[in-house]
Amino acid sequence: MPDNPKRRDLLGLAALWSAVAAMGTALAGVMRLPKPAVLPGPLRIYKLGDPAQFAVGSATRMEAGGFYLFRGEEGFHAISSTCTHLGCVVALNEGEGFACPCHGSRFRTDGSVSAGPAPAALPWLEIALSPDGQLQVNAETQVPKGTRFRV
Ligand code: FES
Repeated sequence: MPDNPKRRDLLGLAALWSAVAAMGTALAGVMRLPKPAVLPGPLRIYKLGDPAQFAVGSATRMEAGGFYLFRGEEGFHAISSTCTHLGCVVALNEGEGFACPCHGSRFRTDGSVSAGPAPAALPWLEIALSPDGQLQVNAETQVPKGTRFRV
């Protein structure tokens, strides 16, 4: 059976367009490479200002940061205010520790669990001094319980 020249041209044109489409798709994929597929979340570092503004013996709730800042004789420490059960915000009861309003977990003043269902202690958070002299808390970095920051 003789080749039909029109049919052969049409198949050649279709092959050409397929090749162009494949190269376009590959080029689009290459253009996406420099961008990360997963973007990091914003850093949760909170500048709190001059350390001198926090009196010795004070406890300050930092609502935006999700932690409490304490200043004692031994220095500063920060404890997360996010319940380790399902993430509710715990309330500080001065001298008694923390209480979660959602399911009744209780935490001692050092963040350790005194009553469940919370499975773990409230984390202590890293405190540092920023280059401009402000106290700053990194809410993404935990430190061992009992760690104090001295100015
Ligand atoms: S979220 Fe705190 S006890 Fe459930």
